[in-house]
Amino acid sequence: EYFSRIAGIGAYLPEKVLTNAAMEAIVETSDAWIRERTGISQRHIAADGQYTSDLGVEASRRALDHAGLGPDDIDLIIVATATPDLTFPATATIVQHKLGVRHGCAFDVHAVCSGFIYAMSVADNFIRCGQARTALVIGAETFSRILDWTDRTTCVLFGDGAGAVVLSAEAGAPEDGKGLMKTHLRSDGSFCDLLYVDGGPSRTKTVGHLRMQGNQVFRHAVTKIAGSMTELADMAGVAIADIDWFVPHQANQRILLGVSSRLGIPEERVISTVSMHGNTSAASIPLAFEQAVRDGRIKRGDLVLMEALGGGFTWGAALARY
Ligand code: ACO
Repeated sequence: EYFSRIAGIGAYLPEKVLTNAAMEAIVETSDAWIRERTGISQRHIAADGQYTSDLGVEASRRALDHAGLGPDDIDLIIVATATPDLTFPATATIVQHKLGVRHGCAFDVHAVCSGFIYAMSVADNFIRCGQARTALVIGAETFSRILDWTDRTTCVLFGDGAGAVVLSAEAGAPEDGKGLMKTHLRSDGSFCDLLYVDGGPSRTKTVGHLRMQGNQVFRHAVTKIAGSMTELADMAGVAIADIDWFVPHQANQRILLGVSSRLGIPEERVISTVSMHGNTSAASIPLAFEQAVRDGRIKRGDLVLMEALGGGFTWGAALARY
């Protein structure tokens, strides 16, 4: 029997920073509005010629270094992304190639902002059943490429970036509360009109732009996420009060604090990077997790609860002993 240990974590943000002040020159908005409604003060934007796979490769190299492993050790690569380099092949195979890996398998998981939770769940199941030994799970996005830069209701919210974790198979029962303990995944496609991209190869033969009814998404996000987290904690036999760190998908400071206050999680246990990164979709959880590991807040042995909701809707949570 195996469980998945988080052997290493890495993150990468493109160099270019777009502040709220700079945003004022693009659409009719203000720093005050963006901060007050979202908590965002800046976001990173990928350079021309810098693709989702490039961000993913950088984050992966750092995660591998952190784990003390090399590309040769990896036998599974999963990229969670809604902004792949190309329609196909999967961005994961491009990452695999750029890392110089020619064994194992690589594929993408598409669950938009919940992608990292979904990808970890898939990798964890590969490891538990013995089909993979060491997995790279990457959340990488270039949402700047699918934003409508004339739509102030969406373009101020998102940013680019990537984060990655290395999961390695360890002998033992996951029920002992080691490594990735449990994941909980949900989706309900009846909400697909609230958050979507209005283009794609089959329907429009274009890439399209992100469209969102923000206030509707907001309304569902808090209840659905809180529900998923409660169910997961119950399944794992863990009390919310025992959780050391809460690493939510960084969509919006108000959603993030809405969820934590509903569950009675004190604000100082919530890792928030939304002010510096904006919403980086599938990359946001590993980006926030990595920052908290790097600054010494999340330590080995800490109990960490992650959650996300995204287009679909898809949503879910993951509980890990780091
Ligand atoms: N600058 C200035 N004014 C703006 C801006 C802007 N960037 N955007 C909208 N407004 C205006 C609107 O036009 C509206 O004006 P009106 O009252 O004259 O019509 C007013 O601000 C209020 O708009 P609302 O949409 O009602 O504002 P709300 O308080 O709901 O905040 C927001 C909008 C921030 C988008 C919020 O609904 C939200 O965060 N929703 C969740 C969205 C989200 O996080 N999605 C991602 C989750 S899933 C994923 O990560 C993909």
